[in-house]
Amino acid sequence: MTVLMEARDVTRHYPVGGGLFGHRGIVKAVDGVSFDLREGETLAVVGESGCGKSTLARIATLLEPPTSGVVSIDGKPTDTDAARRAQRLSVQMVFQNPYGSLNPRKTVGAILEEPLAINDRGNAAARREAARAMMAKVGLRADQYGRYPHMFSGGQRQRIAIARALMLNPRIVVADEPVSALDVSIQAQVLNLLMDLQEEFRLAYLFISHDLSVVRLIAREVMVMYCGRPVEQGPKHSIFADPRHPYTRVLLAATPSVDPAHRKSSVAVKGELPSPLDPPPGCAFASRCPHMTARCTAERPLPRPVNGHLVACHHAEQI
Ligand SMILES: Nc1ncnc2c1ncn2[C@@H]1O[C@H](COP(=O)(O)OP(=O)(O)OP(=O)(O)O)[C@@H](O)[C@H]1O
Ligand SMILES: [Mg+2]
Repeated sequence: MTVLMEARDVTRHYPVGGGLFGHRGIVKAVDGVSFDLREGETLAVVGESGCGKSTLARIATLLEPPTSGVVSIDGKPTDTDAARRAQRLSVQMVFQNPYGSLNPRKTVGAILEEPLAINDRGNAAARREAARAMMAKVGLRADQYGRYPHMFSGGQRQRIAIARALMLNPRIVVADEPVSALDVSIQAQVLNLLMDLQEEFRLAYLFISHDLSVVRLIAREVMVMYCGRPVEQGPKHSIFADPRHPYTRVLLAATPSVDPAHRKSSVAVKGELPSPLDPPPGCAFASRCPHMTARCTAERPLPRPVNGHLVACHHAEQI
């Protein structure tokens, strides 16, 4: 499949603190991420709160430049403001909270037509036609065209947000926890819709989630992040069948619908996340890891191929 987006060694560092008593430092929100995102495929990014998922999402949406590293689209680096602007419509975003992301004073029709109007696409009649067609595709009824967001359920609002993201025919959709705010029964419906739309439009999804049962359903490739770094990355089947990083095993153990064989051998995650301001020199997971050795605290493990996917752990073969 065609690679649409390519990220190479992307970092995003934020200066923080300062002031009279503040501690000045750098938060390495994203620290060395690489991936290929292919047409019609889903790359899921997983990891616990604060590991850099949303920061990576903003970079992939070209809203924010990386501190270093390159994001390319169709093989062309988006390394200048002009290059990012030229590609911005290729990538659209769906957010976690459909309540916050839809203008409460606009009707569904107006919300869907707005991106077309802003970008000078078609006349009013053509825009209305396109909005109605997209409503049908996401499972909204034609008579809901004139309704306001508050008149819809959470799942329907997320359908509106998805429809809006697709109005300009993007090829890449970055979805940041798109079903996390929804009831579990509704989550499956919205995930099925996303998968149907992916097939119809050959969309590439960068799908952010902290929920491995959602990832198991939708992903083709998986990247597990910890403290801004990828710790395990590769085909979903390989990672779920044979997780090689202790952190991935912890996440899988905390996921209900997982293979019991792995559940037994895993330990519950203990200890605190290291401060993003003062990351340890070696492996960021070392302080919480049952397999930790002296090498782990001294030397940072880099991603390397182990059993069919990439793992950043010195002991990936033994555990
Ligand atoms: N604009 C910013 N300025 C300073 N620090 C930031 C900024 N944006 C994010 N961070 C920090 O970067 C780290 C990663 O944040 P990010 O929001 O990407 O995590 P996340 O994985 O999306 O978390 P969550 O699951 O809670 O949404 C955190 O330590 C966060 O405080
Ligand atoms: Mg986030």
